Amino acid sequence: MLYGYGKAVLSAGNPQVVVVSNRGAYVLQEHGDTLIPKRTVGGLASAVEPVLTDYGGTWISWCGRLDNSGRKTGAMLEVPQADPRYHIQEVLLTEEEHTRYYHGFCNACLWPLLHQLPERCTFRQDYWEAYRLVNRKFARITLQTRKEIYWIHDFHLALVPQFLRCALPEAKIAFFWHVPFPPADFFQILPWGRQLIYGLLGSDLIAFHTPQYAQNFLETVARYYPVKIFREQGLIRFRNRRIIVSAIPVGINFHRFEQLAADPKVRLRAQEIRNSLGAEKILLGVDRMDYTKGIPQRLKALAHLLEQHPGYRGKVTLLQIAVPSRNGLGEYGALRQEVERLVGEINGHFDEVQGAIPVRYRYQSLDLPELVAHYLAADVLLVTALRDGLNLVAKEFVASRIDGRGVLVLSQFAGAAQELQGAVLANPHEPHDLARKIKTALEMPLPEQRSRLEAMRRVVKNHDVRWWWQSHFKIIKSLYPGTIPTPSAARL
Ligand code: UDP
Ligand code: G6P
Repeated sequence: MLYGYGKAVLSAGNPQVVVVSNRGAYVLQEHGDTLIPKRTVGGLASAVEPVLTDYGGTWISWCGRLDNSGRKTGAMLEVPQADPRYHIQEVLLTEEEHTRYYHGFCNACLWPLLHQLPERCTFRQDYWEAYRLVNRKFARITLQTRKEIYWIHDFHLALVPQFLRCALPEAKIAFFWHVPFPPADFFQILPWGRQLIYGLLGSDLIAFHTPQYAQNFLETVARYYPVKIFREQGLIRFRNRRIIVSAIPVGINFHRFEQLAADPKVRLRAQEIRNSLGAEKILLGVDRMDYTKGIPQRLKALAHLLEQHPGYRGKVTLLQIAVPSRNGLGEYGALRQEVERLVGEINGHFDEVQGAIPVRYRYQSLDLPELVAHYLAADVLLVTALRDGLNLVAKEFVASRIDGRGVLVLSQFAGAAQELQGAVLANPHEPHDLARKIKTALEMPLPEQRSRLEAMRRVVKNHDVRWWWQSHFKIIKSLYPGTIPTPSAARL
């Protein structure tokens, strides 16, 4: 299912974009001699795909395949196959790169560090070396695709901008950082922090989800380099170049979610989901199975609520969709076991009454219409991340609730909390607080639900995905006046 706004805006007047990220919207699966693109799940893929669907261009990414043969590049193909909108250029990883760069430096070092969970970090020199080499590989492949704007994404590829800058001093390079950027003191735990920041400073624009992340980044830069920083303007002068640092939170295709939420088939499916659960009130969780998402904390808070308020037993169900993620990492397997143990325990402990089962758990991913049906079926969405760059699921829930009903319980540590002030904010580290907030949500009168949702829907609508990418291109344009045509408005 496409997220795009309509037929691609591919006229010659628009700047052509190369997007570069570790993960794209597709992995490639081999069936004999044929490569079948299969959709991936994650915030980055959801955010970036509408841009290329509207705009055309090339997306350079690792598509899940490993290759030790020494081939320089992987496949190039057009997607979606049924209605091609943009090109994928595949980057192949060797098994060793996959272990040391992706599992190692990216997921066992940077990911926990950036989410401020240092006890989970593994610092290894060979991981760092692999990170450098793979970043160079991505840069080399990117340089074979000459386009007007290079748009690099996320913590996997922080060194790519500087590699590109060295080879192409005049290149227009934007970078979006999809995860939190921690305070400078914290970032400095990373033994290779200085090199990583240097890599990013090859960009013209470095954007984050929140002003706080942008401030943390500026502070970090100042610790490592004697640069001129103009905090108010979000401007760095570094070696005779101007670099803009900005907060531009990712938006969603608001219109698409509204459309799906009004679709009779989706509404019918939502009713089916409700009926199948047999609960008076439905709490919903939708997350990748990741330790940053606070799924065990959410389950413990539910147990606490049912313990303290027995009246809810048999009446409330938590429907938890846990999307398989990063399966090759031991910690992710251990988390799955913990979650499944807790689900069993809670369902066993509160099974004495008739009525709804406390937790329904699904270890799977949903396509977009099915996801929206789940958003519509719920009374309350629980986003209890210990830390999250933004959390698109929260915005998607808000956009889908066209009937003005529904409550969002949102971790105060998710970037989305900055924008979604109508949510019931909660501290996921504190089960009593979380249980109290869930109770508040379950008992919220309808007029209050409406007014909170209205306020949030305004924000999500105004700062949609088109606003997000147009903001980037406007800034690049302001740095290079006259060289880049304005993107024409995409058709809704
Ligand atoms: N998602 C999906 N199917 C699912 C669950 C999630 O397509 O079954 C999508 C969801 O629509 C959202 C993204 O995955 O756009 C998750 O993004 P989020 O920012 O919430 O978290 P991330 O996975 O990036 O940490
Ligand atoms: C987060 C990261 C993305 C990543 C996604 C899924 O959203 O910010 O860069 O693609 O998680 O994780 P994976 O490791 O499967 O790419």
